[in-house]
Amino acid sequence: MSTKNMLRLAAIAVAGSLLATPVLAAEGHGPTPPRQKWSFDGLFGSYDRAALQRGYQVYQGVCAACHGLSLVAYRDLRDIGLSDNQIKDAIKDIQVTDGPNDAGEMFERPALLSDRFKKPYPNEQAAIAANGALPPDLSLLAKARIVEAGSIPVIRSFAAKIRYGGPDYIQGVLTGYKDFATLTPEERTALKLPEKLADGQYYNEYFKGHVIRMPPPLTDGAVTFLDEAPNTAVAMAHDVTTFLTWAAEPRMEQRKQTGLKVVLFLLVLAGLMYMVKRKVWANVPH
Ligand code: HEC
Repeated sequence: MSTKNMLRLAAIAVAGSLLATPVLAAEGHGPTPPRQKWSFDGLFGSYDRAALQRGYQVYQGVCAACHGLSLVAYRDLRDIGLSDNQIKDAIKDIQVTDGPNDAGEMFERPALLSDRFKKPYPNEQAAIAANGALPPDLSLLAKARIVEAGSIPVIRSFAAKIRYGGPDYIQGVLTGYKDFATLTPEERTALKLPEKLADGQYYNEYFKGHVIRMPPPLTDGAVTFLDEAPNTAVAMAHDVTTFLTWAAEPRMEQRKQTGLKVVLFLLVLAGLMYMVKRKVWANVPH
């Protein structure tokens, strides 16, 4: 095959793989939340360990009262840089239900490293009864709430967009509260909102339908970080979102590394193949 044909084939392969990439549809969560800068963005991005640990502090100190994180086990916190002793210290007061024992009864015992994060409510009905709406489990929310569909022309941010709409959405919801009284009647009508919100309802810029039953969870200074990093509501939202993204995709760093290795391997292989091709065809008259 001539070099020209090879190039042509390569171009077709690249175009084909781009077209075959699934384009996720935006899910329609109200206005698209602003894009944020995340340590884990892009091909080379990785989780900021300090932010993960602060985010865990925020989750445990604030969100865990209402939201579960049922796919994560306490020992997984090793991955964010905590030692076993630090984890044991953090969970020493947590009691979980286990059993049944020999008498057929459930019993309480201290949490172990191998336990999944304790659920705040025994069942969904209890969670709804307490909050007026279900506080969803946060284990996979960062992946479930993709708000931006990828657009092929901008390949550089394509992957980042598809993967990371979710964190922007979480940050958006956490910091998107606005006093309902400041909306003009025209804005209310445009958003199909009632004249007044019921008790326990809040206006949120980025939540679907704009009316949310989660009270603004973060206020400046709510959590004092062990590393004394800034604890404004926005900074805490950023850290807890980083933590929740890790929870949803703890192996992201390995995945990116593998991807890079594969690309590198393919590049080297392509170079070798090209040299082989030149060698094989060297003495063939054109
Ligand atoms: C007092 C209980 C409570 C606390 C504390 C709380 N939430 Fe919520 N959260 C809720 C409820 C209830 C909903 C569902 C709201 C609705 O459907 O109207 C919710 C919804 C959400 C949503 C939107 C979910 C979706 O389906 O898109 C996000 C994101 C969220 N919470 C994150 C957090 C984070 C992060 C924290 C900690 C900083 C937190 N919440 C603290 C009760 C709580």
